[in-house]
Amino acid sequence: MRHDAIAVIDFGGQYAHLIATKIRRLHVLAEIRQPDDATDIFARYQGIVLSGSPSLSSFGEDSQYNRAIYDLDVPIVGFCFGHQELAKHYGGTVMHGRQEWGPADLQIVGDSPLFTGLSKVERVWMSHFDSVTSVGPAFEEIGYTTLGESGAAHRFAAIGSNSLRRYGVQFHPEVDDTVHGDEMIANFVLGICGCRASWTMERYVEERVEQVRRQVGDESVFLLASGGVDSTVAARLLGMAIGPERLHLLHVDNGLMRKDESRDVMAMFRAFGLEQNLHFVDASETFLSALAGAVEPERKRKIIGNTFIEVFEREARRLGIERHLLGQGTIYPDTIETGGTKRADTIKTHHNRVPIIEEMLAQGRVVEPLADLYKVEVRELGEKLDIPHEMTWRHPFPGPGLGVRLLCSGGSESRDGFDAIEPAVAAVASRHGLDARALPIKSVGVKADLRSYEHPVMLCGDAPWERLLEVAGQLFKGVPGINRCIWNLGLSAPARVRPLAASVTKDRLDLLREADHLVMEGLRRHGIYGDIWQCPTVLVPMEVDGTGREFVIVRPVHSERAMTATPAHLPTPLLDELRAQILALPGVSGLALDITTKPPGTIEWE
Ligand code: XMP
Repeated sequence: MRHDAIAVIDFGGQYAHLIATKIRRLHVLAEIRQPDDATDIFARYQGIVLSGSPSLSSFGEDSQYNRAIYDLDVPIVGFCFGHQELAKHYGGTVMHGRQEWGPADLQIVGDSPLFTGLSKVERVWMSHFDSVTSVGPAFEEIGYTTLGESGAAHRFAAIGSNSLRRYGVQFHPEVDDTVHGDEMIANFVLGICGCRASWTMERYVEERVEQVRRQVGDESVFLLASGGVDSTVAARLLGMAIGPERLHLLHVDNGLMRKDESRDVMAMFRAFGLEQNLHFVDASETFLSALAGAVEPERKRKIIGNTFIEVFEREARRLGIERHLLGQGTIYPDTIETGGTKRADTIKTHHNRVPIIEEMLAQGRVVEPLADLYKVEVRELGEKLDIPHEMTWRHPFPGPGLGVRLLCSGGSESRDGFDAIEPAVAAVASRHGLDARALPIKSVGVKADLRSYEHPVMLCGDAPWERLLEVAGQLFKGVPGINRCIWNLGLSAPARVRPLAASVTKDRLDLLREADHLVMEGLRRHGIYGDIWQCPTVLVPMEVDGTGREFVIVRPVHSERAMTATPAHLPTPLLDELRAQILALPGVSGLALDITTKPPGTIEWE
């Protein structure tokens, strides 16, 4: 039977999930589907969206997907790569090399139902190398693009066949920069597909509660509850589904928490009435000894993820909780970043997606009621479930905690590509009166949907905030081999920068905890905690003054879904206070602000 829902086929583009989110905002259920899912699965939907794709070019090896979808009597719309595939399937042609980036003006032709209610010219957002150059007999051009007065027309930017109910657009209606993209999506979903706007958070809750009951049967759930918004909302939902008696919450102090975090989290759970079956274990020793000597970020992430499971199983045995499933507050970005969809690259392994958990998932032993939501939706759900505001709006804190903010090093200098990087970055910065140098360490980033592990650049000197961001942008565009830019907040430009040998130790964690505490207090004191998405503080084993003391980096960002981010501007008085307080910590010799967008950096350094 058909239900009021849309399938979004994920060809690996970074916006596939964003399409689903935008559809859900119309109160219609959207589900992410794989290109090779069975035809009868697709037949159950009221409409299908073909997403973009970073890795599959229409010109690469023949892209594999279930083309029987085109035989279904279900409306289909393709965006970007999907547009090109649809055009080709119905006898059109696609050529390589007619590219557009960023803004374009869509000149609408005729009166396609896809563009009902819109103006004749619409601002849209482009990102493509390949273009549709002709369409098959059933199709017509419903829009072409121009840019500026004199720009040549770029044909077949939008195509459609009302008789087949097939449409394609070269641009991305799902990104916010396509000004009326939401209206175009609504025209497809509510108009062409005829979906009713009946999917609400209340319905989502009902569906999840049902699903959890079916999955859990008469067993118990043992939920890893960090105190973050995801696991807390998951706890509330699980409690509704199976009742408080069969729900056990386990808060693990893994030694990688913020200052006084575990104490505060336990108090918070009690205050919310979640104290029934609330368990706490201080496993910091176990985690620290597991991490001893680990340097490489992915290795650290996997150790932390595995140790969570080890501790969880030990505690379940100790408490005599038999026949239980593992509960987690996993959300969609955890899966996509771990490369958990077929075509996505592993940017970083999230703690709740290590191989042992993947195995348990395959056996149906893991309950994750929020696995297809983003943080904004989890927060919305949290408010619906009466979780207090201060809890729902806490900054996100990653499962591996300070473990991914405490960089480690064998101590040897990593200077790959420096001969080319150093003169190039110096040349760009000097045009703006700044000094720049590449740093002999590496951090994780994301470039064109792929993981990168590259050098940061440090800018030294004074310039207005907008100028600093502009220089950072020029560096990323012009110099290969770098994925981050930091701005020195120290009193002078460092004479010599050298990596230090360092691993995960309690002393280093205590130092990072203190620096992080100063930053968090500062944000609250200046009343800007709520304006900022997240603000990691990072301890980098790098000395700038020959004393063996380390370097601290503060990374305030704005974001909506953590898939992209922009650096947040902190007020100068706060920067002055942080400079005084953090540089006074024993063990710290330098301080900088991370001014990197995502991409090319990620929010966390590892
Ligand atoms: P990145 O660093 O990739 O992070 O830009 C995106 C968001 O995810 C958080 N993050 C994690 N959350 N387990 C989590 O629960 C993890 O292993 C993990 N790694 C990163 C990060 O803090 C940011 O909000």
